[in-house]
Amino acid sequence: MDARLVLFFGFFIFVHSEYVNRKSCKDVNPTKCSIHSVKLDPCPDGPAFCLLRRNKPYSLAFDFTPRFEASKLMLSIFSDNKNSTLFDTMVTPPVDACQYFSCPLEDNVRQVIDIDFVYEKKHYGKFPLQVKLWNDEDETEACCFTLNINILK
Ligand SMILES: *[C@@H]1O[C@H](CO)[C@@H](O)[C@H](O)[C@H]1NC(C)=O
Repeated sequence: MDARLVLFFGFFIFVHSEYVNRKSCKDVNPTKCSIHSVKLDPCPDGPAFCLLRRNKPYSLAFDFTPRFEASKLMLSIFSDNKNSTLFDTMVTPPVDACQYFSCPLEDNVRQVIDIDFVYEKKHYGKFPLQVKLWNDEDETEACCFTLNINILK
């Protein structure tokens, strides 16, 4: 096969394995933000869930269009390791999201945010992660989604 073709297919498979299915968050107004896609790298078993290893670096990118503007943005990642729908375990404490792109966030402008995280807690099994980005001056303005992960012992 032509080397360029091999490269092309290699790239194709690589890109596709990163996409992961997501759901919107129950307690967040979905009209405030459209999430177009979510990628986790690496995510060898996607797209239904991602197999994660504790203490390894992961990069999460999501493509979205906010229906609000904000000059102060926060981002956090929580996990629901007990499947209780409470998302009460903090994976990444709230951080200033303006370090990931140039703020202010503009209304109706499509953006991609790329963040790195490490899962350090001693939790195992299949459970969801929740990623939330919100306007620090009005918490009802937020982008939020959940995705399933599986952490092996
Ligand atoms: C959470 O629920 C999923 C699907 O219902 C199940 O496969 C998984 O084992 C549960 N995880 C934990 C940690 O209880």
